[in-house]
Amino acid sequence: MTDYKQKYSELQELIENQIANSFLNIEQPDNLYIPIRYFLEAKGKRLRPVLTLIATGVVGGEIMKALQAAVSLEFLHNFTLIHDDIMDKSPIRRGRPTVHTKWDESVAILSGDLLLGIAFRKIIEDVPSDYYKEVLLTFTDAFVEVCEGQGFDIDFENRTDVSFEQYLLMIEKKTAKLIEKAMLVGGYIGNATPNQIEALKIIGQSLGIGFQLQDDLLDLTASVDKFGKEIGKDIREGKKTFLILQSKELFKDDLSINLLNKFFANKGLQDEEVFELINYMASYGVMAKAKEQINYYFKKAMTNLEKLPNNEYKDLLRYVIEKILQREY
Ligand code: IPE
Ligand code: IPE
Ligand code: MG
Ligand code: MG
Ligand code: MG
Repeated sequence: MTDYKQKYSELQELIENQIANSFLNIEQPDNLYIPIRYFLEAKGKRLRPVLTLIATGVVGGEIMKALQAAVSLEFLHNFTLIHDDIMDKSPIRRGRPTVHTKWDESVAILSGDLLLGIAFRKIIEDVPSDYYKEVLLTFTDAFVEVCEGQGFDIDFENRTDVSFEQYLLMIEKKTAKLIEKAMLVGGYIGNATPNQIEALKIIGQSLGIGFQLQDDLLDLTASVDKFGKEIGKDIREGKKTFLILQSKELFKDDLSINLLNKFFANKGLQDEEVFELINYMASYGVMAKAKEQINYYFKKAMTNLEKLPNNEYKDLLRYVIEKILQREY
């Protein structure tokens, strides 16, 4: 039996080495490069670059050709996180103080910008494919989509009438697109056929939507030690997550409805009330509804796997989807 865990670790290691190689030279100024190294050192799952490599492999390409592009996608992702933590006022990420907390907001803004610039430079330097333009456009679109999605996310903090469709569009842009584009970049570098590109797109999109729904759920139910982020943060910040939208539909008694109305009116709740709201959500089956949705999207990703050639990378992709579904961080 193939050891998929081992295989995933091997791909992660390729990514880690390539990240480390990107920062071998001592570069100045320290006030930007030290925070960037600090942030990258804390690792993370490296899901997006691993998916890039798997996508290249599954369509029969050489994964080493996609390594630099994969790392560029991880840099792009890390840039979004550094800025996201300022916007969400998050104190911890990957179990450590966030960049704007450890240094300050100016350092976080600028080191994020710099990391984005490095991501662009690295992918342009090293696109090894006939699909040069597709790869660069896909990468650039990922960046544009994340910014638009994050724009909706902060706009929704001030709104009480966000629909499920609007929420879906927001998470598709802020999270799913980057995951989808990571897979497409891998596909292009592996010379995927149009049908394979289509399959990678649907898989990436479904996986990405499921992933963000799950992030919203974990924000309420995970343990801080495993998740590496503060629990209940979305409720404190007035985020219109799937769980909030469901609470609006499912809450029936006055006490829970009043607390939810307070959340909408005050654009978030204070510490004790956060956990009170989480308890109401649990008793009204809100978390169970979120799990149903998550399962729906992961199943959709699994079904579309059928459209890809049978090989060891397809088996690995199936394993990764299953792993993500069970994740606690
Ligand atoms: C965090 O992404 C941002 C979301 C889209 C929810 P990850 O959960 O992949 O974060 P890391 O890279 O593993 O830290
Ligand atoms: C993730 O949204 C989207 C991006 C980081 C672009 P969240 O704000 O939920 O991500 P976390 O929970 O802080 O990682
Ligand atoms: Mg956010
Ligand atoms: Mg956040
Ligand atoms: Mg979150």
